[in-house]
Parts: sequence; C-alpha cells; structure tokens
Amino acid sequence: MAQLWGGRFTKETDQLVYIFNASITFDRRFWKQDIQGSMAHVKMLSRQGILTKEEEQQILEGLSGIAADVESGALEITEEYEDIHSFVEANLISRIGDAGKKLHTGRSRNDQVALDMRLYCRDEIDAIDELEKQLLLVIERIMEENTETYMPGFTHLQKAQPVTLAHHFGAYFEMFRRDRGRLADIRKRMNVCPLGAGALAGTTYPLDRSCTAELLGFDEPTANSMDSVSDRDYVIELLGALSTVMMHLSRFSEEICIWNSNEYRFVEIDDAYSTGSSIMPQKKNPDIAELVRGKTGRVYGALMQILTSMKGLPLAYNKDMQEDKELTFDAIDTVKGCLALFAGMLDTMKFRGEVMEESAKKGFTNATDAADYLVLKGIPFRDAHGIIGRMVLACIEKDCALDDLTLEEFRSFSEAFDEDVYEAISMRTCVERRNTAGAPGPAAIQEEIRRNRAYLGL
Ligand code: ARG
Repeated sequence: MAQLWGGRFTKETDQLVYIFNASITFDRRFWKQDIQGSMAHVKMLSRQGILTKEEEQQILEGLSGIAADVESGALEITEEYEDIHSFVEANLISRIGDAGKKLHTGRSRNDQVALDMRLYCRDEIDAIDELEKQLLLVIERIMEENTETYMPGFTHLQKAQPVTLAHHFGAYFEMFRRDRGRLADIRKRMNVCPLGAGALAGTTYPLDRSCTAELLGFDEPTANSMDSVSDRDYVIELLGALSTVMMHLSRFSEEICIWNSNEYRFVEIDDAYSTGSSIMPQKKNPDIAELVRGKTGRVYGALMQILTSMKGLPLAYNKDMQEDKELTFDAIDTVKGCLALFAGMLDTMKFRGEVMEESAKKGFTNATDAADYLVLKGIPFRDAHGIIGRMVLACIEKDCALDDLTLEEFRSFSEAFDEDVYEAISMRTCVERRNTAGAPGPAAIQEEIRRNRAYLGL
C-alpha cells in the first residue's frame, strides 16, 4: 500500500477498505493529464518564488522521465498505489529525492483530480469531435453521389412522399452537425482551471492561478474554490451530449437494420461489416448497426449514474465523486468506437438505387402531388384531397398505382384531369418540383450540399 496520508493514523488500513477506496485501477487512465497538470503547477510555484529555479528544473525533469517511462512501458502503473496522484508523487520522490516532496505544495488531490478530469474530458471532446467530422465527410460523399437516387420518405414508417437518398442522409448530417455544436458549447463552458482551489478554501501561498490556467490552455481560473472542487456539471453535460450522439447513431442504425432486411433490400452491408449465423447458412446480419443501437443504453446509463451520484452531495468534495470516472470512461470509449465503426460501415455500404426507386413508385407517394395537380386546375385543396382519396381506394382494389389508370379512368373521378397528369405525378417530377429551402428537389439539395461542404471546409 502506498498512501500519501499515513501521519495521523496508528493502524494500517484494512485490506478490503484499501481496495474499495483506491482508484488506481481506473484513474491511471489520465496519467498524462496528471503529469501535465503537475508540470504547470511547478512552473507557477517557481515563478512565484515558492520553489527555486533549481527545484523546478529537477521536478520537471523527474516528471518528464516518469512520462517517458510510462509511455515506453518501462514503468508500469501498478495497484500498489492508491491513485494516479500517489503513483506520480511516489515515483518522483524515488527519482529525485527531497525536491519531489515539494510538488504538492499549495495543492490538494481535490483540485488536482478536478483538473485531471477536466483535462481528460477536454482531450476526449476533441477526439470525439474529429470522429464526428469523419462521419460527416462520409455522409457528405454519399449525399453528393445520390442526389438522383429516389426512395420513399416515410412517416409512421408508412410511405409518405418520395425523396432522395441525399435528402434522407442530409437529415443525419444535421443531427451530427448539432452534436458537434453541443460539444463545442460544453468545451467552451468547461474551459476554466480549478487548480489552486486547494482542498476547498484556496491556500495561503501566493499562487498565480491565472498563470496555471494559461499554461494549461484554459480561458481563466474558476471563480469559487468550493465550486471548483465539487463541480462535475461538465461531466453531466458531456454525458448528456454523448447520449444524444448515441440516440442519433441508434436511429440511423435502426433504419439500416430495416433497409437491410429481406423485405426492403435497400442496402447491402459490406461483408467486412456483417456477420453470419452458426446455424443458418443464408444469414448475413447487420450486427454492427444492432450493437451500436444496443450500446446506446450503456451511455444513457452513465448519464443516469452521474446525475444520481451527484444529487445529494453537500459542498464541497465528497468521495462519491470518485464515481464520476469509470462510467464516463466507458461512455467515451463506447461513443468513439461506435462513431468509428458506424462511419466505416456507411463508407462501404452499397445502396440499391433501383430497389429504392421501385419502392418509391409504390404506396401512392404521389397522392399529394395528384391533389396539388387538381388545385392548379382550379379545384379547392380539400375537394382535391377527397377526389384523390377515392381514387387511391379504387387503385387499392385494382392493385395498381395512380399512374396506371387510363386518362378515361382519371376523368371518371374529375373532369379536370388531362394528358399532362402523367408527367405531373410521375415520381421524379414529385421530387424535382420540391425546391423550397431544405427540400429534396435538385436546386434545394445542391444548396444544402454547398452549405455542408463549406461547413466541412471542402
Ligand atoms: N481518487 C479521488 C477522486 O477520484 C481523488 C481525490 C481524493 N481526495 C480526497 N480527499 N480523498 O475523487
């Protein structure tokens, strides 16, 4: 057992208590951030004359050595230490001796861990943002290649009106773009430095908190020392944003499972991204999409856990807050894995344009346009709606589409129909005429693609 606080105790910690209390098994994950924070702290202590230049040099070299050795694998972070902070400090002292004992001057593990977690989350936000960008690049390419790939648009999972694959994917582009915006908002709000808050009430040393904040790339120091050590809002916000990312991925996954089904056959998932069945030789399953959909629950779970752990905590630091880490790490890993795999699956997926177009032609997706045709011929919309409704019913009985009716049959429902109705209600016309901003028509989708390209810096 390597602990930083033996002085006031007369008995060894019970072994089970030690294990229950220790966090090294998971907080070793942010060893880099812990060392980075210590380096900034030491530089500031020396600038303020609290440490000598020489002590600063010795400590910085010691910390660099630890970082290099952990990186190379020469130094292992073992469970004999209580936490990552103890590991670094103990190793520093064994490397450089007495100067190492001054590292923790004017600092508590409470502000130290608050800093480490913030640095870690900030780094991960940047990594997740990059993965979201890679996914958007794949979506954008598929949009550009499929502005004339017609497919049915659905409401209530019933065919509604024809759209294009580009338009459908454009909806997901917006969702993932908003995800990035949310991450950027959180990053901005959380980018304040808690170091120097001490255990809860600051310190008597003349620390320059702005200096450490600047050295670590923060906008400024946190304002209140009690809040600094007990705030985990940014973890909650991050897990909220990650839950939304997963909700988006999960909806997309659900659509891919549907599109991949034998009934739809809209897409063909690449062999590299699907799996077979041990018993049914014909099977090719969309496991990646299903797993992404399933893993959404893990991330929601992490959000529920941190909200629940925080809800009853009095100020300031309480050990409950150590529970902020494991599920957050798991949620971050899960989201990163899902984003990367999902992008790979989309990038290699084939779209069956003919099947989608055939499907779009069925299910009366042009019924609204047929009603609009009558409106252009002077019939009020509500009457037109009724006429087309009766025609749809007749077509269902005959098992045909509106387009299959003869002109005579059309005119038996309304004298307003002419030869030009066939062109007016053809599936392609239905899409091509929809050019209001954000619609699937060619002018509108080209504008959407142009804006997406500019957003991605293409
Ligand atoms: N392992 C602790 C955590 O994750 C570090 C802070 C410990 N502070 C304390 N007063 N015991 O929260």
